[in-house]
Amino acid sequence: RDAYSIAVIGGDGIGPEVVAEGLKVLEAATAGGPKFATTDYDLGARRWHATGETLPESVLDELRGHDAILLGAIGDPSVPSGVLERGVLLPLRFALDHFVNLRPAKLYPGVSSPLDVARVAPDGIDFVVVREGTEGPYTGNGGALRVGTPAEIATEVSVNTRFGVERVVRDAFARAQARPRRHLTLVHKHNVLTYAGHLWRRTVEEVGAEFPDVETAYQHVDAATIFMATDPGRFDVIVTDNLFGDILTDIAAAIAGGIGLAASGNINPARTTPSMFEPVHGSAPDIAGQSKADPTAAILSVGMMLAHLGLEAEAARVEAAVEADLAERGDAVRSTAAVGDAVVSRL
Ligand code: IPM
Ligand code: MN
Repeated sequence: RDAYSIAVIGGDGIGPEVVAEGLKVLEAATAGGPKFATTDYDLGARRWHATGETLPESVLDELRGHDAILLGAIGDPSVPSGVLERGVLLPLRFALDHFVNLRPAKLYPGVSSPLDVARVAPDGIDFVVVREGTEGPYTGNGGALRVGTPAEIATEVSVNTRFGVERVVRDAFARAQARPRRHLTLVHKHNVLTYAGHLWRRTVEEVGAEFPDVETAYQHVDAATIFMATDPGRFDVIVTDNLFGDILTDIAAAIAGGIGLAASGNINPARTTPSMFEPVHGSAPDIAGQSKADPTAAILSVGMMLAHLGLEAEAARVEAAVEADLAERGDAVRSTAAVGDAVVSRL
């Protein structure tokens, strides 16, 4: 391939600012190589206020025609909670079958962590969370009765299918097998969530038979948060459900230099639809428009996008440039564009 088409959804708050730096880096990292054509899509709070639309069917259809999607952030305090999350972000992940939500946690040299890393993780922090992206409590199954009365009842049903669990578990095993340590931890809560917990546990056992060289471990999610804060070196690949993965990856980001550095990919490994790359952070409306947001997470997400497109060398160059920039900048605070420019200058 010598040309790729990328759909760009800047979205809300700091989203467009950080995505702009990601695109600068994309251009620099691929100069003289494959061509990238980008198309902007206006989704998020502005569109909802103007038209009442969240994700029109026609836009979703157009998005399907691109090779990948780059997303900034979705969510704004001027819109009722859930409208954009349930109307834009989650429908994209569901409709495009992004069942692997891939979230690496890596502490780069020179980056400070709130942990005493020399003591709790002398060999460094370098793990990846494979968060299921299409099921769990995110599917919107549930309801409310007698709302607003003292007898109100709300249910939020977690959906776990053998098909959905098996495909993400198999993907996680394959990722573990490709890493030097070949270790996979299932995180769940099977002592309380017995139906789903046993499905996950049995599936890991059964699929694990196909990967005899991958060592497996299990942790309840509450215990996993302790280990993440006290012994993160024990993790290599973690596989977990949608909600546990959401929570764990914020902790993972916090220990690995902060949410400004955490990248992610919403991936459909079958490649029948475009995968979507986005920083783990949200729209941060409190600092939007002030050039204060760290675009590093968006830039690293561009790196993940390049790797997904098979451009491994370009992806490695982006990561190396970010790594060098982080090592040099230390804890210094820089503007959004200054970080993008610094990374570009290293490419
Ligand atoms: C994330 C976000 C989303 C999630 C929200 C905005 C719906 O927190 O990408 O981690 O819960 O998945
Ligand atoms: Mn989250």
